[in-house]
Amino acid sequence: MNAHNPTTPPAGLVYQAHLDPSAILALRWQMLGAPGTTPAACRLADDGAGAHHGLLTPEGLVVCCLSVFNRPQGLVQIRKVATHPAWQRRGLGAWLMGQAMAEAAGQGRLGVWLNARAGAEGFYQKLGFHQAGEPYLEGGVGFVRMARALQRPA
Ligand SMILES: CC(C)(COP(=O)(O)OP(=O)(O)OC[C@H]1O[C@@H](n2cnc3c(N)ncnc32)[C@H](O)[C@@H]1OP(=O)(O)O)[C@@H](O)C(=O)NCCC(=O)NCCS
Repeated sequence: MNAHNPTTPPAGLVYQAHLDPSAILALRWQMLGAPGTTPAACRLADDGAGAHHGLLTPEGLVVCCLSVFNRPQGLVQIRKVATHPAWQRRGLGAWLMGQAMAEAAGQGRLGVWLNARAGAEGFYQKLGFHQAGEPYLEGGVGFVRMARALQRPA
């Protein structure tokens, strides 16, 4: 049980902090899947240990998602951040990142890191992340490690 109380979700959407990973697979794959793969390729080996956050339409369609994993030294890693194209640039990704980070901070976590895809660095910079490594290529896609501290709630 955590003490985090989410603020009102944007645009009449429903927030869920602990979705089953199978519920976000389609959106992950649509936004992040490599060409020629199936949704199963977007499963993560440690999905069972993650907290999967999502914003859903009242009909139950997941339109924004991300996954949080506890890592050593009091840190969390955020992975597979995705907003459905029809819902992008409306603040959903930023809102969900804020919720996930607030929950992690409430659980005593000290910081968060992620591997930002090339083109998404500006999104994370606006959320207070700084570059924390050298850019690299994986599967033909560019990434760079980014990180930020988490503020413990008063
Ligand atoms: C990156 C992504 C998750 C952003 O989601 P979103 O819901 O559209 O983001 P938001 O609307 O909350 O954007 C918050 C702010 O970041 C900005 N922003 C969004 N995407 C951006 C990008 N790619 N580059 C720079 N700034 C960006 C927005 O303009 C907004 O700025 P503002 O606060 O000044 O208005 C979404 O574009 C996406 O799913 N992309 C494809 C998958 C992907 O690359 N995921 C990241 C994997 S590391």
